[in-house]
Amino acid sequence: MENTIENGVTSMPRIGDEAPDFKAKTTKGDIQMADFAKDKWIVMFSHPADFTPVCTTEMSGFATRKEEFDALNTELLGLSIDSIHAHLGWVANVREKTGVYFDFPIIADIDMKVSKLYGMLQPNESETAAVRAVFFIDPKKKIRLIMYYPLNVGRNMDEILRSLEALQTSDKHGVAMPLDWKKGDKVIVPPPKNLEEMEARIADDSCEKVDFYLAKKFL
Ligand code: BEZ
Repeated sequence: MENTIENGVTSMPRIGDEAPDFKAKTTKGDIQMADFAKDKWIVMFSHPADFTPVCTTEMSGFATRKEEFDALNTELLGLSIDSIHAHLGWVANVREKTGVYFDFPIIADIDMKVSKLYGMLQPNESETAAVRAVFFIDPKKKIRLIMYYPLNVGRNMDEILRSLEALQTSDKHGVAMPLDWKKGDKVIVPPPKNLEEMEARIADDSCEKVDFYLAKKFL
């Protein structure tokens, strides 16, 4: 379903929606959302502005942990409402000052097209800068998890990676993740859907049960 533009701001994409398609210019050339590899996850994230302190720490976080995203079969895609020239200058500056290289595409969303399409422009926070959004998009191009942070609070890279791994583990094993789940912890076995399954669960000693509706197991 397409997002509609009202008063210059789009409706917000929601979990479960198809990721809206777009074409954009990035630091690695032109891209189209629909052209991303069909077997890859995408973590798309916006930052308010190049050459700003919190954004520099966050982008450096994505860059230094890129191998962990690679290992989770995931492409990184950054965005801000800045020009390609600003992006290139910032990437070069951060590399010169810190040795960290932003080796993933960053969209130059100077016309705010993508920011509006994805609800990243939240005018009561800023009319000119995208908020700190993270969209987790699965290989079928469905939006699976969304984070929005304000301009003055940086995100948590451990939580971004944990969320990605939780989504992928849930999909792979048909289980759900409890509070604070991390790789190696017990997962939640789906609750029974009928009396027959409930009786089977009550008789099942293979998982740790609080009661028939709350059961956990190691994968
Ligand atoms: C920052 O990244 O430090 C920042 C960017 C825009 C507004 C406020 C802070």
